[in-house]
Amino acid sequence: MKVAHIFVSFLAFVVILGSGCSRQPSSLFTPQPDSNSDITPKKNYEDLIVGYAQLGAESEWRAANTISIKETAENLGVELRFLDAQQKQDNQIVAIRKFIVQKVDIIGVSPIVETGWEEVFQEAKGAGIPIILVDRRAAVPEDLYVSYLGSDFLEEGRKSARIMADLVNGKANIVELVGTVGSAPANDRYTGFREILQEYPEMKIIDSESGDFTRARGREVMRRFLQKHGDEITAVYAHNDDMALGAIEAIEEYGLKPGVDIKIISVDAARGAFEAMIAGKLNAAVECNPLLGPQFFELALKVVNGQPVPKWVPSIEGVFFPEDASEILPTRKY
Ligand code: AHR
Repeated sequence: MKVAHIFVSFLAFVVILGSGCSRQPSSLFTPQPDSNSDITPKKNYEDLIVGYAQLGAESEWRAANTISIKETAENLGVELRFLDAQQKQDNQIVAIRKFIVQKVDIIGVSPIVETGWEEVFQEAKGAGIPIILVDRRAAVPEDLYVSYLGSDFLEEGRKSARIMADLVNGKANIVELVGTVGSAPANDRYTGFREILQEYPEMKIIDSESGDFTRARGREVMRRFLQKHGDEITAVYAHNDDMALGAIEAIEEYGLKPGVDIKIISVDAARGAFEAMIAGKLNAAVECNPLLGPQFFELALKVVNGQPVPKWVPSIEGVFFPEDASEILPTRKY
């Protein structure tokens, strides 16, 4: 099978941000196997109680991510206490506090935005309950979480810009559909894209607005862009597939051909993106892998047993194009 332009991240499990790789989880968080391994039996998956504060159900990506967490817990026999915070940080904070009261072994959280976590993470640390950040980072001191499992969002932004530059021969009027304001993927995809654009003076971002990672908002914002700029727009950069699919609908309503009159790139590479590529309406999908369940529980067990874990476990991700989409789609798990 020809998988065009797959950028495999050789960094996975090896290259960790800065010196984080060698960092051990804080001893405050974990039992000390050397000192008490004779008396404290190691836990197995069946012994684990895990609290998980999911941020919501805003996208196809998130749905796949939730299934991966729940199915893996079930397969491994882990007791999972799962909360869907419905896109509200307050709900995630309440859930974390509840998990602390319940004395779970470990907490997983996908922080909806980057800021505002320090107090509740401090409470978890005080209670001796380790936190693993899953999918999204939080802007907190490194001693407040044991590991971050997720993508390199900055690199996803850079990849999107490089592919866009190829597609438009270095010249475009781009509109950008930004993800949830203040979230790590929106912040980094925004920044990474602009970093590369500096090399292309004729590629201009003529408008940029949040579509909150949802299809409905993506459609709504794209309609506004089209009303404002009309066929001056030659390219769309969408921070996720759902917003790109919404934009495709708006472009068709407007009477232009998505993928042809207006080039479109999105991040995630979920099934909807593959279908759009097969239909010729999307020009490339930069992968963001939601299937984090197996790695999450492996990390969780290690942490609870006092084993060292990397500070960042990056996902392995590729880029997909229309010419390979129909061959690859049947192999996709989300
Ligand atoms: O945090 C990952 C992002 O969140 C995905 O790109 C997006 O689809 C989701 O909602």
